[in-house]
Amino acid sequence: MHNTVRFILAGQVEEVHYCEATRTVLEFLREDKGLKGTKEGCAEGDCGACTVVIGELHDGGIRYRAINSCIQFLPTLDGKQLLSVEDLAPDDNHAMTELHAVQQAMLDQHGSQCGFCTPGFVMSLFAMYHNEPERDVERSEIDLGLAGNLCRCTGYAPIVRAAEQALEADRKDRFTDDEKHSVELLKSIQPAEMLVIKSENGAFYAPRSINELCDLLEKKPQATMVAGATDVGLWITKQNRQLDTVIYLGAVTELKQIEEDGNYLHIGAAVSYTDATASVSTHYPAFLPLIERIGATQVRNAGTIGGNIANGSPIGDMPPGLIAIGARLVLRSSQGQRVIDLEDYFISYGKQNLQPGECVEQILLPLPPPEQIFATYKISKRLEQDISAVCGAFALQLNDGMIKHARVCFGGMAETPKRAAACEQALTGKSWSQDTISRAMLALPEDFTPLTDMRASKQYRMQVAQNLLQRFYLEHSATPYPIRLGVRNV
Ligand SMILES: Cc1cc2nc3c(=O)[nH]c(=O)nc-3n(C[C@H](O)[C@H](O)[C@H](O)COP(=O)(O)OP(=O)(O)OC[C@H]3O[C@@H](n4cnc5c(N)ncnc54)[C@H](O)[C@@H]3O)c2cc1C
Ligand code: FES
Ligand code: FES
Repeated sequence: MHNTVRFILAGQVEEVHYCEATRTVLEFLREDKGLKGTKEGCAEGDCGACTVVIGELHDGGIRYRAINSCIQFLPTLDGKQLLSVEDLAPDDNHAMTELHAVQQAMLDQHGSQCGFCTPGFVMSLFAMYHNEPERDVERSEIDLGLAGNLCRCTGYAPIVRAAEQALEADRKDRFTDDEKHSVELLKSIQPAEMLVIKSENGAFYAPRSINELCDLLEKKPQATMVAGATDVGLWITKQNRQLDTVIYLGAVTELKQIEEDGNYLHIGAAVSYTDATASVSTHYPAFLPLIERIGATQVRNAGTIGGNIANGSPIGDMPPGLIAIGARLVLRSSQGQRVIDLEDYFISYGKQNLQPGECVEQILLPLPPPEQIFATYKISKRLEQDISAVCGAFALQLNDGMIKHARVCFGGMAETPKRAAACEQALTGKSWSQDTISRAMLALPEDFTPLTDMRASKQYRMQVAQNLLQRFYLEHSATPYPIRLGVRNV
């Protein structure tokens, strides 16, 4: 094991020998290093004022991704590069006397007024600047890339214009020029062994293999597992919880893998949404518009499907769709693996089918059978950065105009994500017709007794659940009416 967090900051190797397991990257920058460019707005991953960029070795080069530093724990930076807005500043010592292209564009287009949000926007734009530099970025990509940054002054139009100016093809800057050197520096700090950082109140562990993780979980079954920290981070910043022992899953090789075996797509539990999206949506294109509405770019760069399931929330966005397609879970402990249907993971509110010392290792998505139609829909008050009031998913297999199999699942309608047995029964073996759908809609009150809360009333939830089934039918049958209006396919 090794006991020093090592990462690249300002072009140098930074070493941290001691810190609390849950010290955030934002606290480190502002309080330990005096780098005050990165701002704290909400401290819960919503506003993007704290956006920094993380560089990681990838395919022989460096991959840059924006994350929210307010909810990312410092020791998770081991072996990575941390870039804050200070890295982009003109600096005579580094022979860089001009603003970076994304900063210059913000200036040219009047993209900054009070300036509080500006460093966050600049860092999100910087990550986009390094993403596929050989092509122009489309307007819809700009909207998606900046959805996790809020500005109360500019009205966004000047910022979008700045993005358009900055993100023209053939992007080159000091970081592309220096890439070779940065790659060597990053290679020199790649950890070979488990990181252990002990502190006054506990310890942070970053095991590197599944066996190491299972041994650790056996010895410390009460430890808190952390993947992207987009849920756990808020326990610290919003609930002031103290976590004594943290086990970070992001360095476990096996949990970062995506594989396909002819029957299932295997997604490692610590794969981020960003990394999982292409594989998941190749087989299930209907997941793409849903995933694009989970948080925003910074949240999806850190957060994982494994965390979304493991947290057991009744309103997580992935479980309804995954249950509808018949996804399974591989659970792992030092005793070995067990495989369960995802729907059996959710026992009751706050109670999951996970033993002490066990973790979620993989999510198994069955490859879609022929003639399956599938959709998953999220209903929330805002398009991005909002939690579902209701999330509905439908997977039907059709044969000669008849419904051969039907799996219907909802989030936000019960204490766990739950299948709609009566609705499924009203669909199975019936004709694929409006009559059948109308009957199945009327069956839904037998399946659910939703609650009223701050997101929606119980009446609204039931009505919207029924309407989603109607929408699913309209979208998958020949109809003279346009079904989806607007730019984003949601
Ligand atoms: C601004 C913001 C917006 C968000 N928007 C959405 C949204 O639109 N839709 C949505 O569904 N969620 C949303 N979330 C919640 C969160 O991003 C997701 O639930 C995410 O998938 C959690 O993944 P994570 O890797 O960050 O989990 P973590 O925070 O690391 O962990 C979450 C929980 O799972 C446990 N855990 C993690 N991995 C494992 C494992 N492999 N085995 C066992 N236990 C494990 C942890 O111990 C913890 O209890 C949002 C969060 C934020 C901050
Ligand atoms: S301070 Fe708002 S996202 Fe971090
Ligand atoms: S310029 Fe004031 S918040 Fe964006």
